[in-house]
Amino acid sequence: MSSKPIGIFDSGVGGLTVLAATRRLLPNESLVYLGDTARVPYGNKSAETILKYSEECCAFLASKNVKAIVIACNTASAHALPYLQHRFHFPIIGVIEPGVEEALRVSKNRHIGLIGTEATVRSEIYAKELKKRDSLATVSSQACPLFVPLVEEDWLDNEITRAVAQKYLTSFGESNIDTLILGCTHYPLLKKVIGELLGPQVSLIDSAEAIARKCLTLFGEGASLPAGRQAKVSGSFSPLEIYITDFSSRFESIAKRFLETTLPPIKKAVL
Ligand code: DGL
Repeated sequence: MSSKPIGIFDSGVGGLTVLAATRRLLPNESLVYLGDTARVPYGNKSAETILKYSEECCAFLASKNVKAIVIACNTASAHALPYLQHRFHFPIIGVIEPGVEEALRVSKNRHIGLIGTEATVRSEIYAKELKKRDSLATVSSQACPLFVPLVEEDWLDNEITRAVAQKYLTSFGESNIDTLILGCTHYPLLKKVIGELLGPQVSLIDSAEAIARKCLTLFGEGASLPAGRQAKVSGSFSPLEIYITDFSSRFESIAKRFLETTLPPIKKAVL
């Protein structure tokens, strides 16, 4: 059981931030990543479609004999997590709870901002989860739909990205937030631009780091692979497999930069 891989899925490239953080914290875990690049974005789809796509992604990873699945997609976590946990017979963890817990740990004034896709903001899941844990928390949310294509385009820090970010983030001007949840797996890639605009008084919560720490507590470090494989995180055989549902040259170049390692051959998934 423990030598089985952990599955990670996202609608596209953004979940690679979760994959990278999980690999850093759990270098001995075998990982299978699925990016649903053919159908990204999920963030502007209906709840019904998000549920259907998420179920298909989980079924694909289940066919790879995973021991658990990390939903590295806020939109899918917001709309499908309880259903998927019920549907599959292994642990499935979503990205929202770790981000919420980290935000409450960091925030001093309990005024917390959230940015995410339209579907994530519409679900109000972050506000519900924050208030469930701390009734005094106040939440200001802003959907930032243009951030995803900017990241997919690899425009992480240019004048267009800064102008778009400025337009979205002005809504937080009056709200006195001291913490902002980056409630979309693409957004950590825009941390520099967002951080510069909001200033050092606002802590940015990177849910990729938060969910990787959750995996560490759930699965622990080491001992999950046979001894001969312990030190290998890349090389002649790799505990990392990457599948996407549609090929794009950009996916490979972004993946290389995120993971800072030689990539295994990227394979096509048929869902
Ligand atoms: N991965 C999605 C999320 O974290 C963003 C991209 C999309 O809209 O599919 O919400």
